[in-house]
Amino acid sequence: MHNPFKGHRPIMVQEIIALALSHPKAIENRPMLVMDLTFGGGGHSKALLENLPEGSVLMAFDQDPDVKKHTEVEYAEEIKEGKIYFTPANFSSFSASLEESPLKELVASFGGGVDLSLMDLGISSHQLDTAERGISFRREGLLDMRMNYESQGPTAADLVNDLPEKELADLLFEYGEETLSRRIAANICAKRKEKRLETTSDLEEIVFTSYPAKFRHGRTHPATKTFQALRIAVNGELEVLTQVLDPLLLAMAPKGLLMAISFHSLEDRIVKHKFKFWKINSQGTILTKRPLTSGKEELQENPRARSAKLRVFQK
Ligand SMILES: C[S@@+](CC[C@H](N)C(=O)[O-])C[C@H]1O[C@@H](n2cnc3c(N)ncnc32)[C@H](O)[C@@H]1O
Repeated sequence: MHNPFKGHRPIMVQEIIALALSHPKAIENRPMLVMDLTFGGGGHSKALLENLPEGSVLMAFDQDPDVKKHTEVEYAEEIKEGKIYFTPANFSSFSASLEESPLKELVASFGGGVDLSLMDLGISSHQLDTAERGISFRREGLLDMRMNYESQGPTAADLVNDLPEKELADLLFEYGEETLSRRIAANICAKRKEKRLETTSDLEEIVFTSYPAKFRHGRTHPATKTFQALRIAVNGELEVLTQVLDPLLLAMAPKGLLMAISFHSLEDRIVKHKFKFWKINSQGTILTKRPLTSGKEELQENPRARSAKLRVFQK
């Protein structure tokens, strides 16, 4: 079977393993309970299970139906042996899952708390590279962008065709930090009067020509911010991240490590402020005064790592 996740390299995996091994349970060689909220191809999870003490168990979540299919085949053995418990769901519902069998009993058997949790918030290479997902302006596909394409939620096409111009401009500005948001929104609205915008190239073209000619061929493609904004909106990415952090801290055991990798400043800001707030309220320690970033070698191998920031909080 073709494995669409093979190419995905887990970001800062060595740094994550080193931090995980600093946990008191790892030092004492006692099994740890790990939770990976963004399982993807399972690269981080696999590396953690290989390096943590024997008997460690991992609870995994992912909302992408392709991840579910892949995980059930690729990790069948680990699932059968009770090393990985996979829940195909948005991580916003993780607390509810932990209240139900079999995770409830699992957490209780580890003393009631999670020892390490990881959120690798970016989209996966698989999602970016699958043209039908409509996430990348470099691939011709329908403007969908839902990570969970089985959900009822609106697609990017629904947003660009149906939102009032001002709301569309605000969305591009807020989630894409796109300073040309008004002009792009106006051009989208003019074009959609002629025909419904269906494909990535329909939108890419409008954004490209909204940019003044001298800015069209810079280091980042003009459509980058618009596509990011729509993806964030379609998936409610900032809302779910904001909502999940407090329940996540609550689910951690004392000394538990909460790790978050973000890929843009909007996400990183949410994590950074929450960690500071927790620290001020004496709920633990920030282990990364400055966020960790990928080393030179990783950047050379994996250009997508360039905007990744890892922050770690210890309860
Ligand atoms: C960058 S990939 C993770 C890659 C993974 N760490 C690995 O090493 O293979 C991000 C994954 O998180 C999932 N994801 C993003 N937001 C999510 C959410 N709110 N709930 C569940 N899964 C989510 C995506 O579907 C995607 O598969």
